[in-house]
Amino acid sequence: MSRAARFVTAVSLLMVGGSVARVVSTPADEPVQPHRVDPAAWGGDHVGKPRPSYITGDECLFCHRNIGATWSKNGHHLTIRPAHRDEPAVAALRRHAGGNDAAAETRYLLGSRRITRYLRRSKEYGKLEMLSTSFAYRSPRHANHRAAGKSESLARVGELNHRKPHVWDKTTFGDRCAGCHATAVDAQTRAFSALSLDCFTCHGDVPLAHTEDTRLALLSSKSMEPRTMASVCGQCHLRGGKSKSSGLPYPQTFVPGDNLFRDFQVDFSDAAIQALPPIDQHIYLSARECAVSDPSAMSCSACHDVHGQSTGKHRRLEHNAICSSCHDPGTDGTGLREAMLPSNRLRTHSRVCDY
Ligand code: HEC
Ligand code: HEC
Ligand code: HEC
Ligand code: HEC
Ligand code: HEC
Ligand code: HEC
Repeated sequence: MSRAARFVTAVSLLMVGGSVARVVSTPADEPVQPHRVDPAAWGGDHVGKPRPSYITGDECLFCHRNIGATWSKNGHHLTIRPAHRDEPAVAALRRHAGGNDAAAETRYLLGSRRITRYLRRSKEYGKLEMLSTSFAYRSPRHANHRAAGKSESLARVGELNHRKPHVWDKTTFGDRCAGCHATAVDAQTRAFSALSLDCFTCHGDVPLAHTEDTRLALLSSKSMEPRTMASVCGQCHLRGGKSKSSGLPYPQTFVPGDNLFRDFQVDFSDAAIQALPPIDQHIYLSARECAVSDPSAMSCSACHDVHGQSTGKHRRLEHNAICSSCHDPGTDGTGLREAMLPSNRLRTHSRVCDY
């Protein structure tokens, strides 16, 4: 058995976590040593190196008009968005005792389904200050601010969480949030180069020559390896990971195409995954399978169409262990687990994102 084959075997064993056993054959003279799989074993990274300059979204969209048609409504583009006076989170703050000034100072909002945070520009370049107060939505029906009817009273839409008076905090956003909610963050200064998430965060540094050879564009139909995908999406969606070099809860100078796991430490153990809310479990399971370069692994794009914001294609797949993070194996496999029912979906929590 070659070294590579033995590696894959060990990976398979570790990954199935006791739920579905894969059949593996091992010659008697070469017992498989139980060892931890090392997802850092391939590729390079940009830790401590300068970030390459990149083409901004405006330029990409000049040519990619079809992407532009849906991008303005994409959750990644909207994770930080301009605050409008009339939307429930802002109106509720304005009407709250002592909240009027904070509401007037709020320039941006972060999040729109479970909670919304209030942000304003810092005097320092590329930084934001975050208000101590947040606004929590009551139910999925109210979760999307765009769907909240004007006639409904604010109290029915959601409520303010304000343990303290409304205070602007200068460091939390940079220290704990920026890497996943803004673009190209400098791990040293904590300054970002663009609000919200630009094309660069997933496609990286796309050279103009990709118009002739689409293999040069990361995540093109010709350049979508599972392990690359796990690193790209995992830089933000593997919440709970930590950068070894910076100690921050988001990656240091990650450029799509890099191997995230050389510096970003993620606990992929079965116990850690079982402790996660179901919606995060499937992300960890998928990323774990892909991170170790199993070429047959099921990457995010097997189920997600990021620009179409749809998971429609997931229904046509064959059943495997990842399905059970959301579907009840007790039913015929398609029944949803309790936590995944529409009425419960928003009740999930995240220590990293403070909701
Ligand atoms: C730079 C950080 C970042 C990267 C990279 C990233 N995401 Fe996200 N993603 C987010 C954030 C933040 C949200 C939540 C947006 C919000 O609601 O404010 C999100 C939301 C989502 C959602 C749910 C909401 C929606 O709008 O569809 C899906 C699904 C998703 N991401 C999948 C992916 C996949 C698949 C990849 C890899 C191709 C990826 N993401 C890469 C940060 C990221
Ligand atoms: C490691 C990356 C990462 C870090 C660090 C991070 N977030 Fe997030 N955040 C995400 C991702 C990914 C999502 C989307 C999750 C989903 O839709 O399931 C998200 C979603 C959110 C949402 C939207 C919740 C909703 O659905 O309404 C808010 C608000 C939020 N984060 C706030 C914060 C704050 C505040 C911090 C810093 C204290 C922070 N996040 C740090 C990755 C991160
Ligand atoms: C959150 C990650 C993410 C971000 C941010 C992102 N993309 Fe994509 N993009 C993908 C993924 C994943 C694919 C592969 C197809 C799919 O799954 O949707 C893709 C595919 C594409 C394609 C080829 C498919 C097609 O429909 O033509 C183009 C072009 C593209 N993206 C352009 C852009 C541009 C321009 C931006 C910025 C405005 C952008 N992308 C931002 C993840 C992202
Ligand atoms: C000068 C015009 C132009 C600019 C600017 C441009 N592209 Fe493209 N892009 C093209 C053309 C032409 C193709 C090849 C034809 C196609 O597939 O759309 C392409 C292909 C792609 C593909 C692969 C589509 C596939 O086959 O799956 C991706 C992904 C992509 N571009 C992303 C980007 C991103 C991200 C940016 C900005 C960083 C960008 N492009 C900037 C013209 C452009
Ligand atoms: C086997 C299919 C499958 C795979 C693989 C998969 N997902 Fe999902 N994912 C889904 C489905 C289905 C949903 C639920 C969508 C819904 O409720 O409409 C979902 C939901 C999500 C959500 C929450 C969306 C929301 O609206 O709250 C995020 C974020 C997400 N996936 C990210 C990822 C990332 C990142 C990866 C890869 C590491 C991944 N997923 C791999 C099928 C999959
Ligand atoms: C992240 C959660 C998640 C994962 C993982 C997931 N599903 Fe789903 N699935 C859903 C949700 C939510 C729905 C209902 C909404 C929809 O159809 O998108 C659904 C619906 C379905 C349906 C349609 C059921 C019906 O009654 O119409 C099928 C079939 C299905 N899933 C199969 C699978 C298979 C097979 C897998 C694994 C390869 C899988 N799912 C993985 C969340 C998930």
